[in-house]
Amino acid sequence: MKKIAVFTSGGDAPGMNACVRAVVRSGIYFGLEVYGIYRGYDGMINGDIQLLNSHSVSNSIQRGGTLLKSARSKEFMTAEGRRKAHGQLLKHGIEGLVAIGGNGTFTGAMIFYDEYKIPTVGCPGTIDNDLYGTDHTIGYDTAVNTALEAIDKIRDTAASHDRIFFIEVMGRDSGYIAIASAIGGGAEMVMVPETRTTIHDVIDTLKQGWNRSKSSSIVIVAEGDEEGNATEIAGKIKNELPMMDIRVTTLGHIQRGGAPTAYDRILASRLGLGAVEGLLSGKSNVMAGVMNEKLVYTPFYDTIHQVKPINQDFIRMINILSS
Ligand code: F6P
Repeated sequence: MKKIAVFTSGGDAPGMNACVRAVVRSGIYFGLEVYGIYRGYDGMINGDIQLLNSHSVSNSIQRGGTLLKSARSKEFMTAEGRRKAHGQLLKHGIEGLVAIGGNGTFTGAMIFYDEYKIPTVGCPGTIDNDLYGTDHTIGYDTAVNTALEAIDKIRDTAASHDRIFFIEVMGRDSGYIAIASAIGGGAEMVMVPETRTTIHDVIDTLKQGWNRSKSSSIVIVAEGDEEGNATEIAGKIKNELPMMDIRVTTLGHIQRGGAPTAYDRILASRLGLGAVEGLLSGKSNVMAGVMNEKLVYTPFYDTIHQVKPINQDFIRMINILSS
């Protein structure tokens, strides 16, 4: 293998640049030519591909977003789109790929590998932390810290006004960001898709707090919760608890930006190097991850189809510590 390419795809995540940097620098170290594919699979289809050198990734480890840009490609979901992408890779002589992204990225990579057998190793880049095969995904730690910063600020105003705040965090169908920010932010409750918490459970908890003269409370809602989003949930609860002053904040895309934390930079660097070494040792159709401090490779199929369960002890802990 002499020429490889790296791309970022799906939602951007802080630490993606650190991962690209690690792929480029380690690829060059091992004597490879490393190409950058811009705008994910869309760029692969359109030939938006450039040779990178060591300087191309200078001054990038600390930057949020992705210098390679990202996209959620509809065209790559079609056989014709993938045929065009393969043509572009052949044209550039690219023999191996490093795909940095989440579920959608690896689903695409798996189908592409089945069809065209271009060796591909993935790096988990998503704030959602919802991929099996790695304890943490690149960007998750930064997103949680960003959410915490916001939650701390909201707590100040919640306490000053004796208010109840419902704060919605991202995570798609997963509650990882919600649970971590609920623990770190000292929230009274958390609502996540993995555990059923009904509107009545929330009302009971808030009432109990009220009866104990708790004057302000924070409820963290994962965007994928089965009871709806934070605005819907708060709307239903307002009717039942008219004596409480309830407000809603949706943190949104702020969670995707910003400089990566030390943890994310180190994880991204390790996984970028791991992906290149994986390709060179003949691995393919797998994601590089870190589990129990060890670098591991998990088939794309498992990263997508196996569920990474949340730690139920954490939910219990939130309930105990907020009482
Ligand atoms: O997967 C990352 C993520 O930020 C999810 O948490 C969220 O549901 C989704 O992407 C938002 O996607 P978009 O940026 O396309 O609105």
